[in-house]
Amino acid sequence: MRLDKLLAHSGLGTRKEVKKLLKKKIVEVNELVVTDPKVHVDPEVDQVTVSGETLDYQEFIYLMMNKPQGVISATEDNMHETVIDLLEMQDSLQEPHPVGRLDIDTEGLLILTNDGKLTHRLLSPKHHVDKLYFAEIDGIVTEEDQRAFEQGVTLDDDEYHTLPAKLEIVSVNEADQTSVIKLVIQEGKFHQVKRMMQAVGKEVTYLKRLQMGPLKLDEQLELGAYRELTSEELEMLRNA
Ligand code: URA
Repeated sequence: MRLDKLLAHSGLGTRKEVKKLLKKKIVEVNELVVTDPKVHVDPEVDQVTVSGETLDYQEFIYLMMNKPQGVISATEDNMHETVIDLLEMQDSLQEPHPVGRLDIDTEGLLILTNDGKLTHRLLSPKHHVDKLYFAEIDGIVTEEDQRAFEQGVTLDDDEYHTLPAKLEIVSVNEADQTSVIKLVIQEGKFHQVKRMMQAVGKEVTYLKRLQMGPLKLDEQLELGAYRELTSEELEMLRNA
């Protein structure tokens, strides 16, 4: 890869800032000063130092975020803040992207990475990675709804029949005519949880993702906060 990309991905600044660094003649590749940002380096083989310090280069970054409401799961947007805007500069320099989408008003577990292979694996419809959601519902969720979800439901707006989903009724409030549920779905269709509840005549009023495959949201993370995945979590995800 290009030297300026390697330096930027290692947290040394934007490509523009990295160019300035190179001009200062403090970057060496295999003990030779290099000032050309276009020079190709192999981080596995070449030794890159900055002011004599060996570069700590990680090819991939894997983050878990507790996504808050009001930000969108995209890398750029003209109107709204994105999840990338919530990252520290040194992390966004690695150019991670969100793995799948949560709606603007959905909270909870969002994985961000620049590892395209893992992203593909987790999102590919072939793999059916389970997603666990917690939701508050306007309406009384019934055992009949549970049975319907077990068979999959037809999303009335586009006639799509979902894969079977596991619906747990956490509580119902007869007085308010509301319910609290947990739902495991195997797909990630647009607004899927909201549309599944609509298919049985109810409305989601609050939605939070708790788990994706084996990866659980770290409840210590405040809304909008994030951390790197541990090596155990990453291993689990790779085997999901
Ligand atoms: N289902 C939805 O309806 N919205 C989400 O954000 C995720 C799943």
